[in-house]
Amino acid sequence: MVKILVTGGAGFIGTNFIKYMLNKYPDYEIVNLDLLTYCGNLENLKDIESNKNYSFIKGNIRDKDLVNEIVKDCNYVINFAAESHVDRSIQDPEIFIKSNVLGTQVLLDAANQFNVEKYIQISTDEVYGTLGSTGYFTETTPLAPNSPYSASKASADLVVRAYHETFNLPINITRCSNNYGPYQFPEKLIPLMIYNALKDKPLPIYGDGKNIRDWLYVYDHCTAIDLVLHKGKIGEIYNIGGNNEKQNIEIVKLILKQLKKPESLITFVNDRLGHDKRYAIDSSKIQKKLGWKPKYSFETGIKETIDWYLNKWMSKSGKM
Ligand SMILES: NC(=O)c1ccc[n+]([C@@H]2O[C@H](COP(=O)([O-])OP(=O)(O)OC[C@H]3O[C@@H](n4cnc5c(N)ncnc54)[C@H](O)[C@@H]3O)[C@@H](O)[C@H]2O)c1
Repeated sequence: MVKILVTGGAGFIGTNFIKYMLNKYPDYEIVNLDLLTYCGNLENLKDIESNKNYSFIKGNIRDKDLVNEIVKDCNYVINFAAESHVDRSIQDPEIFIKSNVLGTQVLLDAANQFNVEKYIQISTDEVYGTLGSTGYFTETTPLAPNSPYSASKASADLVVRAYHETFNLPINITRCSNNYGPYQFPEKLIPLMIYNALKDKPLPIYGDGKNIRDWLYVYDHCTAIDLVLHKGKIGEIYNIGGNNEKQNIEIVKLILKQLKKPESLITFVNDRLGHDKRYAIDSSKIQKKLGWKPKYSFETGIKETIDWYLNKWMSKSGKM
């Protein structure tokens, strides 16, 4: 029996990943360890609560005793748990260092002590910093994080790398671009804009709205992590991107169009401090080495995403 500890499984990507895995591998056992911070939501996991191969434990990845107790009979550890919002990291960096760096170290110690077959760190393209109008991040691009959030993720990546070099811990690090899809807490661009539009509230856009992100449908991200888990070469880093570079303003206009709301709702606000201009991922390594290919075009993914939030909104009579 394969047993996997997924941390942060009540968050956006973790929720999607657990559902994807239970569906694809009905004989795998998944333990979800999550602190249920403001963006962890068990309601999103209600439909799998009674699955005998799924269990939930409320707890902090920094809790050594708890983590050791869980990891001791797991084959794999996949760490999604993190404070994940850049704006919050600018307001209060401390919790980002505690959860994202120190929490990772506790998981690594346990993985090392109990000889797990693989530890996967879910990281981000933001560790590479920002790009000008050309070029792409590859796995060898130097780390140059600009926000307290991305610095905490880059620091964690370095600790993961060090556990591999020092203790021979079997690891992979994945660095993905901006995910979109169902189950995301409405503080990040796409769900926030959808909900504000539905409520006819202003849609706040930083600066001139021309910052560029590379968008990855969360389902495609899950298929990539699945491949890394089963086929990723020990010690390697894999970039995962959707090849969908879009300006923030383009996304917002598209959301308004689909929801039949006026562009007059767009409100430009003061730019985020240290706002990275452009992220773009070169994911040719995972495509060539592991045969990964994203399935969703941006047009299909964003349509499904908007429909999903709209249905949720309607089913809850206008509540989030
Ligand atoms: N969402 C994106 O676009 C994106 C892009 C690149 C990388 N990532 C990375 O992917 C991972 C998942 O992101 P997400 O968008 O699902 O985040 P999220 O904020 O939606 O979920 C994070 C989850 O981690 C839990 N958590 C936080 N601190 C914890 C702790 N100390 N102990 C246990 N659980 C804790 C929260 O309760 C929450 O359920 C993160 O590591 C993030 O850095 C996300």
